[in-house]
Amino acid sequence: MRIAIAGATGNIGARVSLALRQDGHDVVALSRGAGVDLLTGAGVDGVLAGVDAVIDVTNVLTAERAEAQRHFATMTKALLAAEQVAGVGHHVLLSIAGVHRVDGNAHYAGKRLQEELVEAGPVPWTIVPATQFYDFAMMVTGWTEQDGVAPIAPC
Ligand SMILES: NC(=O)c1ccc[n+]([C@@H]2O[C@H](COP(=O)([O-])OP(=O)(O)OC[C@H]3O[C@@H](n4cnc5c(N)ncnc54)[C@H](OP(=O)(O)O)[C@@H]3O)[C@@H](O)[C@H]2O)c1
Repeated sequence: MRIAIAGATGNIGARVSLALRQDGHDVVALSRGAGVDLLTGAGVDGVLAGVDAVIDVTNVLTAERAEAQRHFATMTKALLAAEQVAGVGHHVLLSIAGVHRVDGNAHYAGKRLQEELVEAGPVPWTIVPATQFYDFAMMVTGWTEQDGVAPIAPC
């Protein structure tokens, strides 16, 4: 299959891209580094030609609820619109388990909006509600890092 990965250069996207390539799929990388900006729309036109499915593993790093929602919504809408034009058959969104049970988290608010847009969108979809990955623990310890104290080294 020809599969586009939105966020292909990220922590999760790079692993997904590698796994799909190893399984013989043709991977189309979507990220600003690859010339596609889903916030501005730059490079989006035509990039999904011949693509069967899109996997969205983009990310937004902000503690501001409105900004998280705006970024996730803008990128999701850009993807869905381009998928509709290109006749993409399926949209897969990586989400997080429990986002509907935790209100006071900006990232979760953005993920909930992403889910709503995908569910209401024009492209058949799958939402994958994953629990946090092991390396998320390192990010969390980084948030509590103190000056002069080294964070935990990755295994
Ligand atoms: N970490 C966890 O435990 C966990 C668990 C469940 C779900 N998730 C979800 O997994 C997703 C990915 O997380 P991650 O840690 O892999 O993210 P990440 O490492 O920060 O990667 C984000 C990716 O999105 C791309 N991107 C960002 N802004 C973009 C834009 N405007 N246009 C196009 N591409 C853009 C980045 O590439 P460029 O910078 O080159 O644009 C990069 O490839 C998140 O949505 C998160 O909610 C994470």
